[in-house]
Amino acid sequence: MVTLTIDDKQVSVEKDATIYDAAKAAGINIPILCHDKKLKPFGACRMCLVEVEQMKGRLIPACTTPVTEGMIVRSSTPPVDKARKLVLELLMLNHPLDCPVCDKGGDCELQNLAYDHKVNSNRLADEKFHHEIDYNNPLIERDQNRCVLCGKCVRICDEIVARGALTFISRGIETKIGTEFDGPLSCEFCGSCISVCPVGALLARPFKFKSRFWAMTKKKSVCGYCGTGCNVTLGVKDNKVLTTVYDENQGFHNGQLCVRGRFGYQFISSDKRLKNPLIRKNGQLVEAGWDEALSLVVERLKEAGSAAAALATPRMTNEELVLLKQLMTQQVGSQNIDHSAGYGHAAVSEGLGKSLGVAASSATILDIQKSNLILAIKTDVYETHPVVGFEINMAVKNKGASLQIVSDKRGKLSRLPGANLLLNKPGSDVALLNAVAKVLVDENLAVTPATAELAAALNDFTPEKVAELTGVAADAIRGLARAYAAAEKAIILFTAGLAYPGADAQLAHAAANLAILGGKLGKEGSGILALQEKNNSQGALDVGFIPGAGGLDAQQILAGCANGSVKTLLIAGENPVVSYPGQLSVKKALDAVEFLVVADLFLTETAQMADVVLPVCSYAEKEGTFTSTDRRVQKIAAVIPAIGQSRSEFQVYGELIRQLGGQPAVTPAEAFAQISAYAGISYNELGEAGAFPSLKLQPVQVVPKATTAAVEPGKFALLTGAALYHCGTMSLHGEGTVSVCGEAYVELSRSDAAKMNIAEGAEVKLTSAAGTVCVKARISPRMPEGVVFAPYHFADAPINTVWSGAAVTGVTISK
Ligand code: SF4
Ligand code: SF4
Ligand code: SF4
Ligand code: FES
Repeated sequence: MVTLTIDDKQVSVEKDATIYDAAKAAGINIPILCHDKKLKPFGACRMCLVEVEQMKGRLIPACTTPVTEGMIVRSSTPPVDKARKLVLELLMLNHPLDCPVCDKGGDCELQNLAYDHKVNSNRLADEKFHHEIDYNNPLIERDQNRCVLCGKCVRICDEIVARGALTFISRGIETKIGTEFDGPLSCEFCGSCISVCPVGALLARPFKFKSRFWAMTKKKSVCGYCGTGCNVTLGVKDNKVLTTVYDENQGFHNGQLCVRGRFGYQFISSDKRLKNPLIRKNGQLVEAGWDEALSLVVERLKEAGSAAAALATPRMTNEELVLLKQLMTQQVGSQNIDHSAGYGHAAVSEGLGKSLGVAASSATILDIQKSNLILAIKTDVYETHPVVGFEINMAVKNKGASLQIVSDKRGKLSRLPGANLLLNKPGSDVALLNAVAKVLVDENLAVTPATAELAAALNDFTPEKVAELTGVAADAIRGLARAYAAAEKAIILFTAGLAYPGADAQLAHAAANLAILGGKLGKEGSGILALQEKNNSQGALDVGFIPGAGGLDAQQILAGCANGSVKTLLIAGENPVVSYPGQLSVKKALDAVEFLVVADLFLTETAQMADVVLPVCSYAEKEGTFTSTDRRVQKIAAVIPAIGQSRSEFQVYGELIRQLGGQPAVTPAEAFAQISAYAGISYNELGEAGAFPSLKLQPVQVVPKATTAAVEPGKFALLTGAALYHCGTMSLHGEGTVSVCGEAYVELSRSDAAKMNIAEGAEVKLTSAAGTVCVKARISPRMPEGVVFAPYHFADAPINTVWSGAAVTGVTISK
């Protein structure tokens, strides 16, 4: 520790602290403009100048100067104040004084500093800048006239987002923030640059002229999209969510969000939200009252009894899932409950459940930055869980972690420095991991010896044999095994979700075996992290929203609807017509079932087929908890009142339980107390950081079955999955996310495109044994030859017409 004096206060700080850090620790405010705690010190603006007695005659920047023992600092003296005033005058020399029309008015650091330092006139005069304002994309407006060249946007895009879309261009007085070749901004639109811009040079276009910053109430919540569980602050005015507000002190991610979290909030207050219950009368869905709708549902659930079933979205709160489970299992008498088509949770429930003894990841997102080696399997985390991608980027760039990737396509992750990509043939991941395990055993690298059963099973997976199956060289497999074994701490990540049927139980077993053999379980910075798709995928597992004993899983429920053994189906928030594999059979099943109830925010493709539609609330209108993919249980509270007549699912299923003679939990706290997985966590004491339930690992070496998906000659291997801009089908109702990625596409390699003479954007037809779909072609360097990728979110060209649930689907492509 180093002790110094600032403004007559003594303070002791770590030896790598700066004067600014020390002042902060002592409760002394030094103004900053270009400094940000998440970014490396830069020292560009000189707002933070201070006097140091030992350096007489000079003013020095507090944000870049390290502390030394016995330093005596003065943060506010006449020369310091004079210098800061001059800095502000210089900054405002060319800066337009258009605060009344600037969206940043009231939330602008330059404005605040000018006010604090009483800069009410300028001794200097010059012409204002006349840079052209960039309105070339729907989300980010760039007005370089207002820029103070603090470089925060450039640094955050590089240091945290790892995109590098912005840079300083030109020199001297002409210096400005530009893009490659000074063209329009082409990036992933995470909005991180907007969040740190101290002035109105970067603005969120969807929010422009909606409200003054101070006129909104800022309410905290948890993002409702993916399993990362980022914390968000919502800006609310007149009971409408108008924007997301940056809060650098929020969450493990310091307020960072991805494009979905930052710009996909519009679905909450969308005009298209359902406002009344609907009942099918004479073939038409017509508005009805809640009483009529609920008594109809009660009647049909009662009649169906054990022939009733429920499919739910893991976007519901834990407490709502508790009630829906109680309704089905106790009041209706059916064990037929499932979520995410049964595919979304297989990796964790069956895979990790058996291998680790608990259906959950052993590692947390926080372990990533503590790890020496990150092994990412079958995933471009940047795409599925972008903020986890930021964590990986920081682990690699700032902490020197080694990044090993096993994937069937290239992604942004593979562009990080030193990333080692093992590009495997689609569907061969399990074989590849088995070969890595085999090397650990053969080269005596295993800390825990393999069981005789596993060792015998691995005999079929010599690196040479597997090299043929996977297309990955035997030496590369050996290299990965050695690196994994040598790393003191190593974490394995893989994606689990509705569209990742390949990442199922077998992949989880194979990954878990590596962690067990390598001695990488139960250690900080080590273990396994399954990245689950939706915001409460882990919660649905913890609540046990999977088929009970003798119950049907999602696929069996649909088959039961088609053959008449399931009579009443309640779909809570899922949109199987678009998101489940095999659209034709899903539609047939929903057509055939006697009675279909859909509870949703929108009249989705599935809701349009229902007999009763119940309008329910978004996460912004209700209270409860979500559990992130790494098992952090976080509380949300309503930030706006319910839209129209919509009700929370907690109210809806509670009421149905009551009408069927049961006793539901009356408050979310009561329902939470019923979740045995969360024993020891108090709902009422859940603070902003949430809480992790305890985990008792009981590792078992399970022999994974490795199947390799060979695609017939002449066909392409179609991979489905998530696109960066979307999460499930809900983000299709976020105008921000749709404005940058609004339609289905198929990505194919340059060489395949050239061979077939397919141009970027051309319409192509994908045909499989299951059907045909027309989508636009995207020619992309990340696809290997013979492999194509299509995201599954889009209703206008649903990929599930050709994808029937296999890890890899053989398709032909025609023009
Ligand atoms: S939106 Fe994100 S990716 Fe795009 S320039 Fe800003 S920080 Fe970079
Ligand atoms: S655009 Fe904003 S964040 Fe970027 S350098 Fe200019 S003022 Fe700083
Ligand atoms: S979608 Fe996921 S990564 Fe993006 S902000 Fe929401 S929780 Fe975070
Ligand atoms: S805040 Fe220190 S130089 Fe900008």
